[in-house]
Amino acid sequence: MRHFEKLPIALDISNLSPNVTREMVTNRRNAAECADRDLRFGTCQGADFLGWLKPGEILDKDELDALKNCAKQLREQTDMLLVIGIGGSYLGARAVIEALAEEPDRVVYAGQNISAHYLQRLRKQLSGKRVAINIISKSGTTTEPALAFRVMKDIVNCADVKSCIVATTDANKGALLQLAEKEGLERFVVPDNIGGRYSVLSAVGLLPIAYAGVDIDKLIAGAVACADACKNTDPEKNPAYFYAIARQALYLQGFSIELLANFEPRLHYISEWWKQLYGESEGKENMALFPASVDFTTDLHSMGQYIQQGRRMLAETFVIVEGGEPVVAIPDWEDDSDGLNYLANGEFSDAGKVNAIAYKATAQAHREGGVPNMTVLLKQLDEESLGALIYFFEIACAISGLMMGVNPFDQPGVEAYKTIMFKLLGKPGFEGGSKETKTDYVSF
Ligand code: PA5
Repeated sequence: MRHFEKLPIALDISNLSPNVTREMVTNRRNAAECADRDLRFGTCQGADFLGWLKPGEILDKDELDALKNCAKQLREQTDMLLVIGIGGSYLGARAVIEALAEEPDRVVYAGQNISAHYLQRLRKQLSGKRVAINIISKSGTTTEPALAFRVMKDIVNCADVKSCIVATTDANKGALLQLAEKEGLERFVVPDNIGGRYSVLSAVGLLPIAYAGVDIDKLIAGAVACADACKNTDPEKNPAYFYAIARQALYLQGFSIELLANFEPRLHYISEWWKQLYGESEGKENMALFPASVDFTTDLHSMGQYIQQGRRMLAETFVIVEGGEPVVAIPDWEDDSDGLNYLANGEFSDAGKVNAIAYKATAQAHREGGVPNMTVLLKQLDEESLGALIYFFEIACAISGLMMGVNPFDQPGVEAYKTIMFKLLGKPGFEGGSKETKTDYVSF
């Protein structure tokens, strides 16, 4: 693992060429530097939302201690935590918890959909258990989590019910703040200067992550180490510059979709978080790579055909865990009825080693099939590397969006469906006009 120096993350760029080479990246560093300077001097679009840039300063020591203490108390009093939130108010926490927690199933989620079936099943699942709720909404008015909170609030079950409902919301405004104040609930603050998709290292993500038993100090330390590295303006030393420049170059060559691919099921929600980060930050003004994701090898047996031979518009970024994985030995069978003794008795007698070869084979096959790809390597999957990965993706996203000329910190397009939905639901303030939507059925 000689490729890891100061950071527990590294980039493997061997399958980017000839589309993107080191020289091309170096030649374009000015564009990244300009965007980065705007970001750091607060002269970029959306400059009111740069609170995530210094991950070690999002919470001060007292706030961090209070958060850890709250997580500890909740953990001691309950069997499960129900996290209620949507988008940036839930994906980061889920991504870290699924990747690192020893018992990820102690945390469950609501408010990320409005499915009656989902809510009903969740109520059944939680019935009889000791349950706490962390409702998270920056605006405090988002329909999905507000509705889920109403439906699920009575499921809270612990000795001191009030202390087992925690609201994470704006410090000064919103319906959730009013409710929390009225009911005397424990509160944590979503900082004004951090938008949802950049909020995982604020109380938004950290409280549920701490409840799940993940070491949040180490997570923050990993992000801080990456933030230091990302101050370097040499793309060979700054992974965010390299990634942002490379993906912009690919986009300009007509690659319109970026697939984030893993070979580790517990990284599934990292991809979900990444999709929101890049989709919501860059998908504006009819531009940007469409962020999509695949879980391998599972999806090689469903999406693999398209990736290899379908329309050539795909670029791919693998996230690969290099070390620290368990050894699962492949046993030797006397009759070799399934033909796997060549693995059991050789160098690849561990399932993890087979998985590593599957990644190498896939990266090579996709390159040969016209899918340029690069890999973000993690030294091992732990708090430090995940903290570094989170920060790397965040700052690369901000730089990449600014290089494209969009505001990477707003999401005006998200309002469109809400406005129509509120009108159809008759929400006060949205009355007027027709409540009909167009229908044109084909009935059989
Ligand atoms: O990134 C974002 O801004 C969004 O995904 C929001 O986090 C999401 O819409 C939820 O908003 P809120 O936290 O206000 O309920």
